[in-house]
Order: sequence, then structure tokens, then C-alpha cells
Amino acid sequence: MSEILEAARALREGHLVAIPTETVYGLGADATNPTAVAKIYAAKGRPADHPLIVHISNVKLLDSWVSELPSYARLLANNFWPGPMTLVMKRSGLAKDFITGSQDTVAVRIPDHATALEILSAFETLGGLGVAAPSANRFGKVSPTSALAVANELSEFLGPDDLIVDGGTCGVGLESTIIDCTGLNPRVLRPGAVTHEMIEEATGLPVVESGIDIRVSGSLRSHYAPRSEVVLDQTASPGDGLIAMGNVPTPDGVIRLASPETVEHYANQLYAALQKADELELSKVVALTPSGEGLAVAIRDRLARASHK
Ligand code: TXA
Ligand code: MG
Repeated sequence: MSEILEAARALREGHLVAIPTETVYGLGADATNPTAVAKIYAAKGRPADHPLIVHISNVKLLDSWVSELPSYARLLANNFWPGPMTLVMKRSGLAKDFITGSQDTVAVRIPDHATALEILSAFETLGGLGVAAPSANRFGKVSPTSALAVANELSEFLGPDDLIVDGGTCGVGLESTIIDCTGLNPRVLRPGAVTHEMIEEATGLPVVESGIDIRVSGSLRSHYAPRSEVVLDQTASPGDGLIAMGNVPTPDGVIRLASPETVEHYANQLYAALQKADELELSKVVALTPSGEGLAVAIRDRLARASHK
């Protein structure tokens, strides 16, 4: 049996499957099966009232999960799916409390990753309607961007029939942009690779800056944190780790964790660099934050959380 079909069957049978996506690896379960979804919370050590993103392969399935779709949400879906964007909309009866954290909204995404799309589509062929998948890390920790990082993080918490599918290193490397589509204007709840500028251009509407009152676990301030202490925009001392653009020299005795040449590379290398700091048991990591708009906003957001104690 192909690995894709094996993964789709495992999901239909109520097991967990760690799935590669273009953003980060997700820990998937059948989004209509409460027992399967409960396993996600157990493996992650995540509070059970935190809502999950439902992943689908085809925009036609959106109507199953959503009861109201504003026209700007349709524009966003047409422009950026498959892609690193999650839309929050009014839920249908299919989106039960165990998916939405008892809110009246549901988050949906079509990922842009060949393996993820193949698994989702095989799962849908077997009668599945959506795969709930948070990032495949323990609660509060850094999201995995490779199958090895998932295994390091979660192996001991997975059951004998659960699977980790290796789809290589994630291209984007930061979690999807989450856009609340329940108001008159799009509102960004979590910045990501679909940027403020891209949303305004696609919808012709101004983006409302987020005052977060919806429960988004990634919006807890101390999220995405490695064990090492992360400090921003300070001088690194011998023994410290350093994450900075390639043109920044490494001071003597400092351990270089990443030297990205572009903001895209910065996003893509950030979580692996933080995980490496933990592997090396560094007590401190200095990150020099990128300036500017676009993806740099999402990088600064994640670094601010990683550095918050
Ligand atoms: O890129 C991603 O989005 C990855 C990949 C696997 O798709 N998934 C991901 O899931 O980052 P997770 O669970 O780690 O983060 C999803 C965020 C959470 O902070 C959750 O609170 C929020 O989405 N969320 C889910 N449903 C929501 C809703 N109805 N309203 C507001 N926020 C919601
Ligand atoms: Mg997460």
C-alpha cells in the first residue's frame, strides 16, 4: 500500500498522522471523530478548549464546514489557497465544539504541499470531510519544520498505529496567516506569509489590526519558546547562540545558529535554529530581528513570543 493511502486509512480509522505542509508539520486527526481529536490534545499536552484548524484539499468542502462566507473571504480563498492562510468563519453544524473550542467560528485551510494534498484528497475519497491539525509540537514549544523534528518532539506520545509522514523540510517555515472573516473587514489574528499587503490587494479592503479577543493559542504571549532563553537585538557574548542575517559577522566564541540571506530564508530557518539551541543546551540565544514589512512582521511576532518569559 502506498504511504499516502496508508496515511489516509489511518486517519479514517481514528489514528493520528503527522503531515508535512508548506508552513510547519501538523498533527492530523479526522475532524469529525471526537475520540481521534482527543488524541491530538493528549499527544500535544494542549488544553482541550483550544480550537483546531480543519484542513481540506478542495474549496468545495468549505461549504460543509462554514455557514457564512463573506465575499472577501471567497476572494482570499481564490487568491491564496492552496497556501499558508487560514480563514476563520461562522461554523456549520459539522464543526463541533471539540474542533472549535465551543466558539461559533471554525478555522479552515488548504495547504500548499503535494504530500499533504494527496493525503487529504485520499482521505476525502474514503469519505473523510476534513483533517484537524495543529502544529506537531508539544504545547507552547517550537513548531517542527522537518519529520525528524516531529519525531524528536512527539514520538514518545504517539500510539503504535499513529504515523509520521516525511515530506521534507517545510518551505515557508512559519505557521499560516490566520484571518478572521466574521466582521466587515478582514482581521489578522496571526501574521504569516500571506501578508497584510497581500490581503488588502486581494480584497480591496483595509485590514483591521488585531485586538485579539478570540482564543488563539498562538496568541498566548509565551508561545513558540525553546528551553534556551531568547533575547532580541542585543550583543551576543561568548557561549551564546546567534540568529542573524548572513551579513552580520559572528563574534568570537559565539555559536552561529542561522545566517539567512533573505527574510524568506530567515522564516524558513528560524524554528530549526531554535531547536538546535536546545539540542546544544545553550542557555541563551540572541536573535537580531529583521526590519521591514511583509514576512518580517511574522518573524518579529514569533521572536517576540519566543523571547517572552
Ligand atoms: O500553518 C498552520 O496553520 C499549521 C499547519 C499544520 O496547518 N497549523 C497550526 O495549528 O499552526 P495550531 O493549532 O498550532 O495553530 C492554530 C491556531 C491556534 O492558535 C488556534 O487557537 C487558532 O488557530 N484557531 C483555530 N480555530 C480558531 C477559531 N475558530 N478562531 C480563532 N482562532 C482559531
Ligand atoms: Mg501551534
